[in-house]
Amino acid sequence: MAYSGIKNWLDSSLREIRDSGLYKDEKLIKGSQNSEVNTLDGTNINFCANNYLGLADNVEIMDAVISGLETHGFGMASVRFICGTQDIHRELEERISRFLGTEDTILYNSCFDANAGLFETLLSAEDAVISDSLNHASIIDGVRLCKAQRKVFRHADMRDLEERLKETRSARFRMIATDGVFSMQGDIAPLNEICDLAEKYDAIVMVDDSHATGFMGVNGRGTPEEMGVSERVDIITSTMGKALGGASGGFTSGRKEIVEYLRQRSRPYLFSNTIAPPIVVGALKALDLIENHPEYRKNLMDNAKYFRSRVSSLGFEVIPGYHPIVPVMIRDEIKNVEMANAINNRGIFVVAFSFPVVPRGEARIRVQLSSLHTRTQLDKAISVFEEAGREVGVI
Ligand SMILES: Cc1ncc(COP(=O)(O)O)c(C=O)c1O
Repeated sequence: MAYSGIKNWLDSSLREIRDSGLYKDEKLIKGSQNSEVNTLDGTNINFCANNYLGLADNVEIMDAVISGLETHGFGMASVRFICGTQDIHRELEERISRFLGTEDTILYNSCFDANAGLFETLLSAEDAVISDSLNHASIIDGVRLCKAQRKVFRHADMRDLEERLKETRSARFRMIATDGVFSMQGDIAPLNEICDLAEKYDAIVMVDDSHATGFMGVNGRGTPEEMGVSERVDIITSTMGKALGGASGGFTSGRKEIVEYLRQRSRPYLFSNTIAPPIVVGALKALDLIENHPEYRKNLMDNAKYFRSRVSSLGFEVIPGYHPIVPVMIRDEIKNVEMANAINNRGIFVVAFSFPVVPRGEARIRVQLSSLHTRTQLDKAISVFEEAGREVGVI
């Protein structure tokens, strides 16, 4: 039987993944995403969602979605250019452009699709893309699809970026690609220096701002706003699957000619169904709420500051920063799983991240704060981290 060969290989690979502490179990949640979730083991305080602004089960968004369903239906059964563009799709694109202060925006079904459809559309063999070594998998895969020369610079290392720019002088066009906030680190790209180098070497700048849109920067417009470089970034890709309500959907926003060209040539846009109308309506409502409730952002950042300082003072190694992604470094894969289990068993929902999501030997518990967390929930989590850390022997 043809299948038995691959089956044996899969069985032994899966065993190896389990034995090395790298197996990723999925916890079943009954009910909606919130700062507390019900799982099969009971109620847990949730520290692993990208629900930064707590909008994932926001009542106003859900009401808007229900009325959007009534007016615009459930699905469009078409790609955008055939008969999949409703008034609300255009409205959301315009709304995102206004929010970010960009010229134009194109929607995708996810930010993964936005990144998959970006590089190969704009760049060809005579061009170069220069990418931070810790960029998200969707940038890596997007770059793989494209025929441009590929250069990787050491994470946030501007000297190394400059070397890669020097090496690619002969390219027709060059694009520097970086996450705005790095999802496994919670650190922020040095966008000022990146834009300076881009100007010096005549490159354009692309930022994936999935972990920043909606809450970083004084108006929540993301890392370009946070770093004061909004005018200098050419392309922003981002997701609606995190702070903007957390359902799904993504977009590319920036220079108008780039967006217009993507509409003509970007494969995940041209060959994939349009984004579902209820999601579009929900994202529009999420943007309203973000603009009218600056306190969501403030709570989030206050929570991040509090958790970071308390957990560091217990003796845990925390990657420095101020973002609501707080990576607590355990390093050893097996201990990392033990630590996550010890925390989960005490009613706190965290996930152990290990290879291939992070490099081997850099296993960590990634804690993510939400504006919904109360001080009582944070204090409970901090005391659980202390107990679990002592039990496992990491503090
Ligand atoms: C930096 C970054 N880019 C892109 C994505 C993918 O976003 P989406 O879920 O919209 O595909 C993620 C999600 O994990 C991310 O962290």
